[in-house]
Amino acid sequence: MSASPRGVEAELDSGSAPIAGLDTLSTVIDSIFKTSDNWIDRRAAIHSALNRTVVTPSELSTFALFDPRLPYTRNLVATDNTHYTLLILCWNVDKESPIHDHPCDGCFIKALQGKIRESRYVKDASPESDQLVLFQETIVHSGAVTYMDDFVGYHKVGCAGTEPAITLHLYTPPYHSCKVWASPERFSSWSEGKVTFYSKHGQPMN
Ligand SMILES: [Fe+2]
Repeated sequence: MSASPRGVEAELDSGSAPIAGLDTLSTVIDSIFKTSDNWIDRRAAIHSALNRTVVTPSELSTFALFDPRLPYTRNLVATDNTHYTLLILCWNVDKESPIHDHPCDGCFIKALQGKIRESRYVKDASPESDQLVLFQETIVHSGAVTYMDDFVGYHKVGCAGTEPAITLHLYTPPYHSCKVWASPERFSSWSEGKVTFYSKHGQPMN
């Protein structure tokens, strides 16, 4: 199922050719990190690749593992342990992440199924204030790709529809913990959120 080197070149050259499946996407991402030498080009290439990726029903049944006991699950699809981590997150109705940062170059999200709400915050510019201020709220529909990094701000993500939602995430480079805020009222009061996985490569962790 992996794309041949020529296939990958063709996919990188084409701004519109669909990328069939997560194996092929991983191969394309590997190639992007080998061939692009600056962040601007790399970010555009990753965004384009995610836009063009079509995840198959078979892949969703392997990686999109829901648990009704949890707000959402984080399922590892692929990583090279150096440049990127590719995850599928499964969101139960009315559930969301806490506000968090991204100690990496960037975070890409593609909505695969259902509707997602992304709420973006920045630290209040006033030196007297210790608040995070909401500056943007977006409903992300199936098929759309978003991008976030700490220069833009911080965010929380959650299920916005009446059905559970599924999202594909790419983090570059991988990281093991991030800052988490229980409330936007106190920017200085954050805790460390450890990166955990509900499943890896389709295998539940417990
Ligand atoms: Fe995030």
